[in-house]
Amino acid sequence: MRLTILGGGGFRVPLVYRALLRDREEGRITEVVLHDLDAARLGAIARVLAEQAAGVPDAPTVTTTTDLDEALRGTDFVFSAIRVGGLEGRAADERVALAEGVLGQETVGAGGIAYGLRTVPVAVDIARRVRTLAPDAWVINFTNPAGLVTEAMSRHIGDRVIGICDSPVGLGRRVAGVLGGDPDEAFIDYVGLNHLGWLRGLRFGGVDQLPRLFAEPDLLESFEEGKLFGAEWLRSLGAVPNEYLHYYYFNRETVRGYQEAEQTRGAFLRDQQARFYEKMAHPEAPAWRTWDATRAEREATYMAESREAAGAGERAAEDMESGGYEKVALAIMRAIARDERATLILNVRNRTTLSVLDADAVIEVPCSVDANGAHPMAVDPLPGHATGLVCSVKAVEREVLAAADSGSRATAVKAFALHPLVDSVNVARRLVDGYKGAHPGLAYLR
Ligand code: G6P
Ligand code: MN
Repeated sequence: MRLTILGGGGFRVPLVYRALLRDREEGRITEVVLHDLDAARLGAIARVLAEQAAGVPDAPTVTTTTDLDEALRGTDFVFSAIRVGGLEGRAADERVALAEGVLGQETVGAGGIAYGLRTVPVAVDIARRVRTLAPDAWVINFTNPAGLVTEAMSRHIGDRVIGICDSPVGLGRRVAGVLGGDPDEAFIDYVGLNHLGWLRGLRFGGVDQLPRLFAEPDLLESFEEGKLFGAEWLRSLGAVPNEYLHYYYFNRETVRGYQEAEQTRGAFLRDQQARFYEKMAHPEAPAWRTWDATRAEREATYMAESREAAGAGERAAEDMESGGYEKVALAIMRAIARDERATLILNVRNRTTLSVLDADAVIEVPCSVDANGAHPMAVDPLPGHATGLVCSVKAVEREVLAAADSGSRATAVKAFALHPLVDSVNVARRLVDGYKGAHPGLAYLR
């Protein structure tokens, strides 16, 4: 079984490989092909994987290539984890937005739109290549903004693309843990769009345990989302929002947090990751150790501005040992390859799940996964205010897809202007100018 990783020189690849190394079962991945545009990054990551594999019998083989067609031809699974414009691009997304006083986060608000506008054309090209070169392959999309990019790809390869994110999984794990349940056994009632969803129930032992959480303020503020939003607001909502909703519910504070930070997240990671790849340029650098120290620092500072704005303090130790993405990705592959049914929160086409959206809109929802792919499960409708946000943001995503398709600048302006976190059409116009100036990849907008 072969797995191709696009963005194979990317920093998170060793997490995926670690998960693969632990899989000893029949039908597991035996070959990994790393594809990246940058040969030096590929070489650095390949060295980390080689150290991970040392001493593991039958470790999956690893090959590297900068040729996309070669990487895709005949493969069984594709992980797409690319970053168009690199971390320099992410830092520019933040900078341009903050200069206008709006959020520039990589997936939410103006920053997410800019990132989507330059990523969608590349993702569509990949989907087309997959359709030609590996028509039976399953594509697992990690590339952000994950919901939007998954929808763009689904227009070309249908339900063979499945989008993943670790934030609903992390949320479910934290809430189950606080309630004394096993996260792998609990059913997590969660729905929305990627980075825009709400947990409304969590069932184990045949009972919804969430009312217990709302009854006890101490429990409610004992985990990441509880600290971010505060018990009172969670009670008002009657649900636990995804951590990314902090950018909506506390928009002023998060924008100010970003503005006052010494460096934005993207700028910090740009410098931190550059140091990692520079160190790896020395052939004698201890690959795994260098990588793991960089990873630990990255995890510890995740969403630091939001936690600071909310006075939420340090991240919990158990939240810092990743295990989100790669676990979900491996679970999807297992369920598909061995037809072992699994329930996972994924980004898939809506079909009839949320009646306010059309069938092709990609949403994030618990899915039942088997050899035929991921099937969204029935969930209760969202309340009015959440439905409003989901519909607004989906409308924005559709304008981004339309702009990427037509190359229309006016459509790109419409995408920014309609976003609930962009407060003026004039701001939207200046954002398009600013982003076009910062990103050569947006020259197509005319
Ligand atoms: C979470 C999100 C991902 C995102 C990542 C960013 O895991 O679910 O979509 O890529 O955070 O973390 P970073 O360390 O890059 O700020
Ligand atoms: Mn995510």
